Amino acid sequence: MSFTKIQAHRGASGYAPENTLAAFKKAIEMKADGIELDVHLSKDGYLIVMHDEKVDRTTNGKGMIKSFTLEELKKLDAGSWYSKEFNNERIPTLEEVLKLIKPTSLFINLEIKAGYRLYPNIEEKVLNMLEKYDMLERSIISSFDHYSLVKIKQLNSKVKTGMLYMSSLFEPWDYAKSIKVDALHPYYITLTKEFIMGAYSHNLAINTYTVNEESAIKQLAQGKISGLITNYPDKAKKIISSIQGD
Ligand code: G3P
Ligand code: CA
Repeated sequence: MSFTKIQAHRGASGYAPENTLAAFKKAIEMKADGIELDVHLSKDGYLIVMHDEKVDRTTNGKGMIKSFTLEELKKLDAGSWYSKEFNNERIPTLEEVLKLIKPTSLFINLEIKAGYRLYPNIEEKVLNMLEKYDMLERSIISSFDHYSLVKIKQLNSKVKTGMLYMSSLFEPWDYAKSIKVDALHPYYITLTKEFIMGAYSHNLAINTYTVNEESAIKQLAQGKISGLITNYPDKAKKIISSIQGD
């Protein structure tokens, strides 16, 4: 069994419009180990799966997610920007994604998009929804907002968390422990073999993003990365299996 776990970034977003049910279905078909997705709140408090805080780039609408109700968001076309064949795709709620993933063996890396902390109580809502579908143990909650991760641990110390960051941090082990995360989620180009081993020796997993190039996937698989987030789970699976076995 391969050591490295593959997470389909925004679903298998190399093959279908990101963060749609079509992209998550492709991730299941491609036998990814898990999916990564991004969560916001609508005007009426629903957990909405989308990357940007505005709907402009990935739908035919314009404006901030937080200024639309769920009913309004559901009218938008979330697939045509990618390809006409996906014109029936709608913006999914977290609940719809959980219903899809629950019967599979995949885990969820749920990124809370709380950059400006404009989503009151999003942490409570995320935990309640995961609990409703008995998915707390199959999930890791990540965020670039580390206050959000601290809040998650205060609300439920058993839920796994991962700290997202972009810069090349120097031995962030003590910091990671201070905010009680279980994993580091670094940008892959900052990684070295020494860093990876250092993290493991401090009992921290690494889920690195967003690794799409064959040479980088190969190098990280050889370096025994614990988790790799990619738009191409099929390609990553093939490379990782050839190095680590199935
Ligand atoms: O979880 C890794 C990755 O998704 C973080 O960056 O911008 O794709 O959400 P972004
Ligand atoms: Ca993300």
